[in-house]
Amino acid sequence: MRSLDFKMSLLDIGGGFSGTDDSVKVINEALDELFPPDSGVRIIAEPGRYCVESAFTLAVNVIAKRAAVNETDGSSDEAGNRRMEYYINDGVYGSLNCILNFPENMKIEPHLHRAVGDSEPRLKSLLWGPTCDCVDKVLDSVWIPELRVGDWLLLDNSGAYTSSLCSDFNGFERASWTEMIIIYSCKQWSGCLAVCVSVCECV
Ligand SMILES: Cc1ncc(COP(=O)(O)O)c(C=O)c1O
Repeated sequence: MRSLDFKMSLLDIGGGFSGTDDSVKVINEALDELFPPDSGVRIIAEPGRYCVESAFTLAVNVIAKRAAVNETDGSSDEAGNRRMEYYINDGVYGSLNCILNFPENMKIEPHLHRAVGDSEPRLKSLLWGPTCDCVDKVLDSVWIPELRVGDWLLLDNSGAYTSSLCSDFNGFERASWTEMIIIYSCKQWSGCLAVCVSVCECV
C-alpha cells in the first residue's frame, strides 16, 4: 500500500469466519505477519456466526424411513448392506438452509440422541428434508446406525443462519420462538449462572 502512496490506517476483516474450526487461528497468523502492531494499522472485525454458531444444537426428528429392497436400484452397497433413506422434519428450506446458502461452510454431522452400541452396524444413509422437493436433500451419504421413526438426531453448531432464515416452502410452517424448546444441561446452566453472577458483581 505504501508503494501506491496510500497510508492505510484501518483494516476491517468483516465477518464470515467460524468459531468452531481453525479460521481464527489462520486469520490471527496472517494478521500477525501482514499487519504487526508496529504497522500502525487498526484492525476491526464484524463477527456474526463466530459469536453464536456454537450456542445452539438443532434437534431434528425422523418422520419416515425406507430401505430399498433389491440391489438393482442402487439401494445396497457392494457388500450387500441396505442403503437407508430417512425423512426428517427440517431441511434445506428450513433451519438447514445453509446447505443451499453457504455450501462452503457446510459441515453437517448428525449424531443420535440415544446411545448405540459399537457393535451395531453403521448403514450408508441418505437424509431428506420434509418437503418432498428433490432439492431438499440434507445428506447424501452418511454412515449411521439404523434409525427408528421418532428418533432424534442432534446437529451441533446450529446457532447461526438456521431458524432465522427458515421459509414456509411447500406449506411447512416455520417454528415460532414460542414453539422452540431450549434445553440446557445442568453443567451449562451452572456455567450461565456463574457468568450472570460475575456480570452482576461488575455492574
Ligand atoms: C455487514 C455484515 N458484517 C458482518 C456480518 C456477519 O457475518 P457472519 O455471520 O458471516 O460472520 C453480516 C451478516 O449479515 C453483515 O451483514
